[in-house]
Amino acid sequence: MKTGYYITTPIYYVNAQPHVGHAYTSIAADVLARWHRLLGEDVHFQTGTDEHGLKIEQAATKAGLSPQAQADRYSAPFRALNEPLLLSPDDFIRTTEPRHKTIVAELWRRMAAKGDLYEGSYAGWYSVSDEAFFTEDELVEGRAPSGHPVVWTEEPTWFFRLSKYGPALLEHLRAHPEFVRPQNRYNEVLRFVEAGLHDLSVSRTSFSWGIPVPDCPAEGPQHVIYVWLDALANYVTALGGPEGAAFGRFWPADLHLVGKDILRFHAIYWPCFLMSLGLPLPKQIFAHGWWTVEGEKMSKSLGNAVEPLQVVARYGAEALRYFLLREVNFGSDGDFSEQALRNRINGDLANDLGNLLNRTLGMVRRYRDGVVPSPGPYEAVDLALIEQAKAQREVLMAAMDEIAFAQALAALMRLSSAANKYVDETAPWTLARNGEAARLDTVLYALCEVLRHLGIYISAFMPIAGPEMLRRLAVPEGLRSLESTASFGALPAGGRTEEGEPLFPRVEDEFTGRRREKAQARSGRAGQDPTQTGARGAQDHQQTQTVKEKKMSEQPEQPIAAQKIEPTVKTVEAAPDDGPEPIDYSVFQKLDLRVATVLSAEKHPNADRLLVVTLDAGEPQPRTICAGIVGHYEPEALVGRQVVLLANLKPRKMRGVMSHGMLLAAGDEQVKLLALDGVLPPGTRIS
Ligand code: MSP
Repeated sequence: MKTGYYITTPIYYVNAQPHVGHAYTSIAADVLARWHRLLGEDVHFQTGTDEHGLKIEQAATKAGLSPQAQADRYSAPFRALNEPLLLSPDDFIRTTEPRHKTIVAELWRRMAAKGDLYEGSYAGWYSVSDEAFFTEDELVEGRAPSGHPVVWTEEPTWFFRLSKYGPALLEHLRAHPEFVRPQNRYNEVLRFVEAGLHDLSVSRTSFSWGIPVPDCPAEGPQHVIYVWLDALANYVTALGGPEGAAFGRFWPADLHLVGKDILRFHAIYWPCFLMSLGLPLPKQIFAHGWWTVEGEKMSKSLGNAVEPLQVVARYGAEALRYFLLREVNFGSDGDFSEQALRNRINGDLANDLGNLLNRTLGMVRRYRDGVVPSPGPYEAVDLALIEQAKAQREVLMAAMDEIAFAQALAALMRLSSAANKYVDETAPWTLARNGEAARLDTVLYALCEVLRHLGIYISAFMPIAGPEMLRRLAVPEGLRSLESTASFGALPAGGRTEEGEPLFPRVEDEFTGRRREKAQARSGRAGQDPTQTGARGAQDHQQTQTVKEKKMSEQPEQPIAAQKIEPTVKTVEAAPDDGPEPIDYSVFQKLDLRVATVLSAEKHPNADRLLVVTLDAGEPQPRTICAGIVGHYEPEALVGRQVVLLANLKPRKMRGVMSHGMLLAAGDEQVKLLALDGVLPPGTRIS
């Protein structure tokens, strides 16, 4: 009796090192495995390596290795991805393991006994890279549809009666439109099956690196089992075969996750093999798209393969996982660029979710000694946030059911943005100042509860940051399941929260550091990052900006202190008669004005009117400045905000703290910081 949830990745060829394309399938499967664990299901997540066949034999010959040594050498790096990519498979199978080979031979016998195998001879085209046979009609300009070369092959073979199962497969497809996803891939498979299936050559005699066909007479040609039959069978052999204990618990598979290039094998051959074996068909096969690099196919031979471990070393596994699944719709192709990755990390994670977490924990510490307060009665603004939490949860859960990661993450970020907006609207610092303790309790509680939900959702994608968020929010173990987000308000009051290092740190853009400065000095104008890509980044910035732009400003309690800009800059363009004298543009150019992002802000230890602000100004090190805006801005409300920095003001010690520059602000009674109309990389020159 099947009780568990079974999800698989394809097993990877051991002809070369893994690249980001391989990591993609595994990461997607891992997120689903973790999601279903969060749903409380008994999950089995299966992956491994595909080690037989001509492709591997040829790679071994080229490397001067035995095929087994080749397999050992290249299986290891795939397995070694698990830890750094935070993959959590329950099993990693190698097709050269005895547990696999024995069962494959048994399955072969079972198909033979059914009368589905017959001897013949094959003459046709073969692509070694795809390990696939093609008819003349299927070739595109003399190559396989994948673009790989084909060779003419003639050899004795065993055929499998694929044609016999065509009608049953067609019927299954029509009855189960969810069998193949996404829809366009389903249509593709349907058309292919409707056109009629031809019997399939399932053994090879022209080389020997494979599982021997059982019971081959010694005097005849020696057959090895076709590598795709061998490889597909892993989904069953890994469960111990049809008689295995795990088989009953997990078969049929809930989901075979595959790339679009290997859909035919999974959606046509595999179900027909299973029908022959008398085994139930998997519930779904989902074909995802491909990642390119600057529009080119990613490959070792082109030298453009993105190595997952390098990306991880630079940005961390969680950022890579988030980016790959947020950036493109699962099922569509995507183009990999580091700039797009940085935009995602900074735009979604650092500026939005990270900002929400930091400012909430900061306020809980500041106003409630770090203890989660009890909420009072909810008001309209709170109810609107709770409504958002419910609405986005629904979208998110449905999207995960549909394996629409990007939509799920977009819903998650919408909730985060809504909560940031709620902070701005409810202005907890004003509530604190006005002594509205009950309101402040409610607002802080609502924020902690939203963050609990967000922490649970993100745990499947970011398995370190998510649980750490929950730990910092003092969420009890029993309230970390998806089910516990069904209602709002489960978080118990009284938990002791904890701040810490940023969980979603901004990543540095290499172009915002010194290089940008140099380039700009040469060109004498504000630089646009030349690698800035696509509409998605822009969209993000837009989204982030809506969170940042509406910042509160208090009624002033104190006059503006030092470090506020005098009206000079404001009046440069149209110097009024009584203003400062006109200047040449070259004088203006001497001002090194730059976009900077506030990393932290604290009250100055020795000066009532100053805040000590650290800024990311696109430099290798953060900058510290003192700003006289106390009474106009609460420190925590500045974090994540973009400001305008006069960077080349001579450093000056202010009551014991060195200030390296000045923030631009306007107003006297009411002081407002200058802001941008959108988010730009820190360090961007203003001219
Ligand atoms: N060995 C077969 C699968 C057998 S499953 C019974 C195979 N291996 S593979 O190593 O070539 O590919 C494994 C997976 O990686 C496939 O799902 C494939 O689509 C995916 N990718 C390989 N390159 C890719 C990209 N550039 N982008 C996205 N996925 C890619 O096929």
